[in-house]
Amino acid sequence: MKIRKAVITAGGWGTRFLPLTKSQPKEMLPLVNKPLIQYSVEEAIACGVELIVIVTSLGKRAIEDHFDRSFDLEHALQQKGELKMVEEIRRLSNMVDICYVRQKEQLGLGHAVLMTRNVIGDEPFVLLLPDDLFEYREVPLKRMIEIYERYNASVIAVKEVAEHEVNRYGIISPQEVERRVYQVTGLVEKPPLGESPSNLAIMGRYVLSPEIFECLECTLPGRNQEIQLTDALQGLQRSEPVYAYQFEGERYDAGTLNGWLEATVSLALADPNIGPQFRECVHRQLSRCAREEKAISKNDPVQSLR
Ligand code: G1P
Repeated sequence: MKIRKAVITAGGWGTRFLPLTKSQPKEMLPLVNKPLIQYSVEEAIACGVELIVIVTSLGKRAIEDHFDRSFDLEHALQQKGELKMVEEIRRLSNMVDICYVRQKEQLGLGHAVLMTRNVIGDEPFVLLLPDDLFEYREVPLKRMIEIYERYNASVIAVKEVAEHEVNRYGIISPQEVERRVYQVTGLVEKPPLGESPSNLAIMGRYVLSPEIFECLECTLPGRNQEIQLTDALQGLQRSEPVYAYQFEGERYDAGTLNGWLEATVSLALADPNIGPQFRECVHRQLSRCAREEKAISKNDPVQSLR
């Protein structure tokens, strides 16, 4: 069955970014010249999706406004002769059909996905967690849809992480079936260090069979007392095969301050319009840091050894 629908979860509080996210959704934080969530929306469109379901919650109205039409703004820009910008603003509201589902309680990722059951219905769909951003030559989700079509089963994106990082992710038990593709024989959400079945960590892209909703209905709160999607997938792989795709290329966790800053720098450097000039700024700042470090080590040789 063709994948027609995507779910993007945007219901979380964004507490790691406070006070920045006190009155604005984390998903609207800028990444160069677009809000974070727009990258996921564009990625879903690139995969041929026709309807996007965004799971929001209290205080997230800015997301709806962003993808809505703004006649006042278009009019003002037209008056100023900024026709290219008018086109860009209109493109945003015409990109794709988007509908919104409210998550009324913050009970975890699994709970957020379950909220979309009536809109998704009985068909496979893709799920994108907007915090996870990929730098790729090929869109990993496109490859995952191909794998889904070949095996007719759910597919999750995975990447190798360092031993000390396994407790930040959902981790799979893998059985390789072809290069970079694994059958998943077990999953655990954020295992304690030393107890992880592998170091293949789930990164926020999934192609899911509708059976996941049945599994989510039966999933009890798990890690952090939240209803975990990983636990529902553990149930799913008992009744039907689940696969994992180990994608190539860089991934950023824009859900942490450092990851967000790194993604910003990386995307800005790669942008053909602002990249060359930004490269000079970065060089200037790095040289200044190097000069300061040198000055410190000259004046205080002990400190420089620390
Ligand atoms: C969620 C999932 C986890 C996955 C991670 C990827 O965790 O529960 O399995 O590895 O996203 O970013 P969160 O980061 O929301 O705690």
